[in-house]
Amino acid sequence: MELGECTRNPGYQDVDGGGSAADTVNHEEPEERRDTTALKLDADAEYTQMKPYAGMPKELVLLHSSKARYRVPREIMFWLMVACTLVMVALTVTVIALSPQCLKWWQVSPVYQVYLRSFRDSDGDGVGDLKGIQEQLDHFQYLNIKSVWVSPFYHSPMRDSGYDVEDFRAIHPLFGTMQDFEELLAQMHNKGLKLIMDFIPNHTSDRHRWFNLSRTGDPHYKDYYVWTDCNGSAPRPNNWVSVFGKSAWTYDEVRGQCYLHQFLKEQPDLNFRNPHVRKEMTDIIRFWLEKGVDGFRMGAVKHLMEAAHLRDEPQVDPNKAPESVASEWDLHHDYTTSQLGLHDLLREWRAEMDVFSREPGRYRFMVSESYDYHEVDKTMMYYGTPLVKESDFPFNFHLLDLPQNTSGSWVKHLVQLWMANMPRGQWANWLVGNHDKPRIASSAGQTYIRVINMLLLTLPGTPTTYYGEEIGMENINVTDSQTQDPAGKYNASASRDPQRSPMQWSGDMNAGFNNKTNITWLPVHPNYTSINVEAQREDEGSVLAQYRFLSALRQSELALQRGWFCYVHADASVFSYLRELDGLNRAFLMVLNFGKESAVTDLSSVRELPDQLKVLKSTNQVNDGKALQKSGIPTEAGESLVIQYSTSTRFNPNHPEQCYVSEKACYLSAMDILYKC
Ligand code: GLC
Ligand code: MG
Repeated sequence: MELGECTRNPGYQDVDGGGSAADTVNHEEPEERRDTTALKLDADAEYTQMKPYAGMPKELVLLHSSKARYRVPREIMFWLMVACTLVMVALTVTVIALSPQCLKWWQVSPVYQVYLRSFRDSDGDGVGDLKGIQEQLDHFQYLNIKSVWVSPFYHSPMRDSGYDVEDFRAIHPLFGTMQDFEELLAQMHNKGLKLIMDFIPNHTSDRHRWFNLSRTGDPHYKDYYVWTDCNGSAPRPNNWVSVFGKSAWTYDEVRGQCYLHQFLKEQPDLNFRNPHVRKEMTDIIRFWLEKGVDGFRMGAVKHLMEAAHLRDEPQVDPNKAPESVASEWDLHHDYTTSQLGLHDLLREWRAEMDVFSREPGRYRFMVSESYDYHEVDKTMMYYGTPLVKESDFPFNFHLLDLPQNTSGSWVKHLVQLWMANMPRGQWANWLVGNHDKPRIASSAGQTYIRVINMLLLTLPGTPTTYYGEEIGMENINVTDSQTQDPAGKYNASASRDPQRSPMQWSGDMNAGFNNKTNITWLPVHPNYTSINVEAQREDEGSVLAQYRFLSALRQSELALQRGWFCYVHADASVFSYLRELDGLNRAFLMVLNFGKESAVTDLSSVRELPDQLKVLKSTNQVNDGKALQKSGIPTEAGESLVIQYSTSTRFNPNHPEQCYVSEKACYLSAMDILYKC
């Protein structure tokens, strides 16, 4: 038997009473002697020699351990351990496989749009700034908002309120410094808030260094923009028009050619067929990701590429004189929007953002802006495909049409436009305003501001709130001399100034927008004395209080956050739907009156609903807590109800064609967990 070398117990006495093992271990010892010693050992006699018990020589251990009374339990233990490990691995894999995805930060709270110029002016120059946002971070926390989208603050000559960028890596002094930005971002992160930046890839300012090098024919930069030969005295190489009106081409005297601008002539379109341009823009995205921004709103993306052949676009009215084609509505934009290659660009940027999304909790979010109107399929393309991701969601602009017809059926139709066309498994989103569109409280009327906010906060998906909507701010009247917006200078009715007035924080001077001087870049709405944050914080029945309540409810209730959304009823006044989660008894019924008259809604045919219902929250405070029969739910025009009820009968299995869910999940009350089902 080959025992080899071993370390011996220093207290062990050799059979013949020799010294300690330490003394007697001798590597020169003849092989036979060591072997015979071991073999001659009588196990029982040897026990008496153990000093102490531990440290048995290897040969003894082997001798005893092979006995059945040791071997069998040992083997049992061993196989038990193997079995336990396998069970644990199987359990872990099952739990992972069965767990639905955790919602990401951009899903759990509304996105709040800060129009920087108008949010809060910290230094009194009349224009909102980065420090101003920092002063108001509590407002977001007060409203349970985690995601804040800030309009552009890049260095810019401000021909289009900063959407004309002169330097993508610098902050405009009007808004502060790079240090102000870094401090704001750090402060926001400290408070658990996320910052989404505007990214404007389609064009630069005509003051951008690249454009100056391009127009002077620098070999590297000459193709950074879209240039073509044209006649300097009649510069219209084709019939393309700018979104802001008139030809999309301007003759440049320096280069002696025309350049393309789908927006202002001071906003030349970049040429994304040039790989250097693509790289420049990706580098800029990386620059801000490295600074720690949490996401981008990709602006005007459908305009990113144009057909290289530069052919005329077909006229909407073929009989119209070609010279009079001057508005974007005059043409079918077959060659200037949604061109092949556009989605590859967005996917490249998404891939760059994904590199920065790997750290836990640092997911970088992308939302895209594309007005495709009735071509909803084009909008849905921005979600990407199951294999290649793009935006987390494209903005859903359908509810901007809500004021066209305030009725329950109309609102259902607009909601359905999105829900029925959204690719399976994707996440919806809703908005009713932004810096480009009239304020909803003005276009729909104050009567409907509460019901609209309630709609947004209880539909499935992420709502976006344009600053001031949480208090029901309205458009201002802007005179010609006060006009700031270039779109308004082309056409007063297209001016976007009315919806960009200073935020109404309080009843103080300048509505608390700035308290240092009496200057504001646009006038404050005269209704600020009653419609302001401070006053509404004091009033439990205010638009603000309702927003705050619903935002908190949305965040705390699984059914509202990620449950089923099912249509229940729609008529000339009322739109009604419910939110439920399989396995969870608590569900919510929404009854929203968008009509012009009061209504009594009979939901007695909905057998999954209990007969007795109780109002959790009404837009009319006096109805909070009211008990109702499902056969007669009364609402005033513009009133809406959140009804919380308890049930073990779910609606969705019986009406699958009326229900949607982004990712199906079930609640297991015994363990208080969600699982895929
Ligand atoms: C985006 C902005 C809009 C701007 C346009 C051109 O669509 O939302 O305000 O005018 O881009 O840059
Ligand atoms: Mg373009």
